Amino acid sequence: MSLLIVSPFVVLVLCPGVVPLDLLSFVLERDTSRLVPGVHLDQAEGVRGLRFSSPHLSMSFPSSDLLPDCHLFPQQFSMVVTLSVTRSNPQVKYKYTDRLFCFCFDFSMNKGLYLCDGSQWITMLQDHQRLDYILEQQVLTTSSETNDIEVFQIAGVGVMAALAQRSPASGSAVYLWTRSGFQLYQNISTHGALAWRHFRIGKRSYLVVSNFGGGADTSGAEVEPDSSVIYKWSRKRRRFVHLQTLHTHCARDWEAFSINQHTYLAVANHRTGNNHTIDSLIYKWNRLAKAFEVHQRLPTSGAYDWEFFTVGPYNLLVVANAFDGVTTSVDSVIYVWVNDGFQVFQTIKTYCATDWEMFQIGGRVFLVVANGHRLADSGHGRYAINSTIYELDMHARMFVRFQDITTYSAVDWEFFSLGEEHFLVVANSFSGESYSLNSILYRWQGYEGFVPVHFLPTIGCSDWEFFTWKGESYLMYSSAKAPLSKVFKLKTY
Ligand SMILES: *[C@@H]1O[C@H](CO)[C@@H](O)[C@H](O)[C@H]1NC(C)=O
Ligand SMILES: *[C@@H]1O[C@H](CO)[C@@H](O)[C@H](O)[C@H]1NC(C)=O
Ligand SMILES: *[C@@H]1O[C@H](CO)[C@@H](O)[C@H](O)[C@H]1NC(C)=O
Repeated sequence: MSLLIVSPFVVLVLCPGVVPLDLLSFVLERDTSRLVPGVHLDQAEGVRGLRFSSPHLSMSFPSSDLLPDCHLFPQQFSMVVTLSVTRSNPQVKYKYTDRLFCFCFDFSMNKGLYLCDGSQWITMLQDHQRLDYILEQQVLTTSSETNDIEVFQIAGVGVMAALAQRSPASGSAVYLWTRSGFQLYQNISTHGALAWRHFRIGKRSYLVVSNFGGGADTSGAEVEPDSSVIYKWSRKRRRFVHLQTLHTHCARDWEAFSINQHTYLAVANHRTGNNHTIDSLIYKWNRLAKAFEVHQRLPTSGAYDWEFFTVGPYNLLVVANAFDGVTTSVDSVIYVWVNDGFQVFQTIKTYCATDWEMFQIGGRVFLVVANGHRLADSGHGRYAINSTIYELDMHARMFVRFQDITTYSAVDWEFFSLGEEHFLVVANSFSGESYSLNSILYRWQGYEGFVPVHFLPTIGCSDWEFFTWKGESYLMYSSAKAPLSKVFKLKTY
């Protein structure tokens, strides 16, 4: 490992494991007969380097020498340390101060420019990254079947995944991503967990889980009432601790968002007993009481999912309505925030809608719905049906049909981008006969819309989550029919 120390505030780091680019040679080798003013040789613990006592103007060079046509560079860019790390010794410790920034030029796997804010790498520029193939990275044996996964990051801790697991006996698990994949981090007591959501209020992290207590209990034992529980991340105890319990009704989803610096939660109440036409609630965080309070009630029909998104100055919220007690062919509703509450913006006919996903491609705004099944007159369900992508028509101010994709009792859509490429992966859960079927990864091809590119065998797929960590991209899926989840690595070139 060679370490060249420059000045105390800005650090230029070459990503571990990549071919080093000797940036200092840009300034030091102009005139080899003398050292640049303010620079002297130094040796510490067997490492020889250069110490820069004061940054000198003669050490600067145009950033275009390094990256032609780079518009994202700060006007003044001072370098402090170049650090090259060999593959055999990737253990490098950086000492962060709040005035320290690091830049990472990665010319290998994930070509690009990354900025480090002290805890994570933020992508500034990323070039030509393309999906090559998909590798199975980890098969996670879970204590019971999983209805939902939430992947999130906690500063200073890393990537975590909370799994909403069916069994009341073993509860639900929160995993931490390590070099060998997800490792169990914390058990949280749940009963029939249906969904997790992570959110932040300021810098603090929270998790909310919905419990379904009213499940069939054949033993006649007292069933737990339906409730959702909010947990707060305790920085001291480094685990999630109970914050608040809310009364919910077979809540299928929680959504968190903020409007005008206020934090809100929306719960999708699916049903009370057999009654599906009930209210779903919007809660608002009360800073003084340090608790969520009911802000608005919205009528829903077997609500399954909420998706919040913004378009320009507008705050929108869409609900997936699955069933009204008679039919799965019901309207799902897009709401817009006006004054201090949501008002109906548009309704869209859906068929047992289970999920909405909003995404943007080059300024275009899309919404895709996962349609679960259609009830035929015979009373039998049809599971191979279209799920539809809608595009926002900015002039008409409404979403219009863009593309139909045949899905098999779809329960989730996940959108993600790799470099310049955009993908949608669908969780197909049931073919009508079997729970073992392919989930499909689609790639955006502009005028042609999304076209299938990868087929991923799944069993009772309940959720797909995309996440990135240390420049690598992953997809994770959970099964509602088998006690396993899988993590796939997306290999790019
Ligand atoms: C979590 O619970 C499982 C049993 O369901 C147990 O084997 C495991 O040791 C527990 N882990 C932690 C971190 O509490
Ligand atoms: C369903 O619940 C709502 C709200 O509690 C109530 O107004 C409605 O009458 C109920 N419908 C049926 C069919 O019981
Ligand atoms: C799905 O959509 C396509 C294109 O809009 C249409 O041709 C097809 O009939 C639809 N399939 C079903 C099962 O509704």
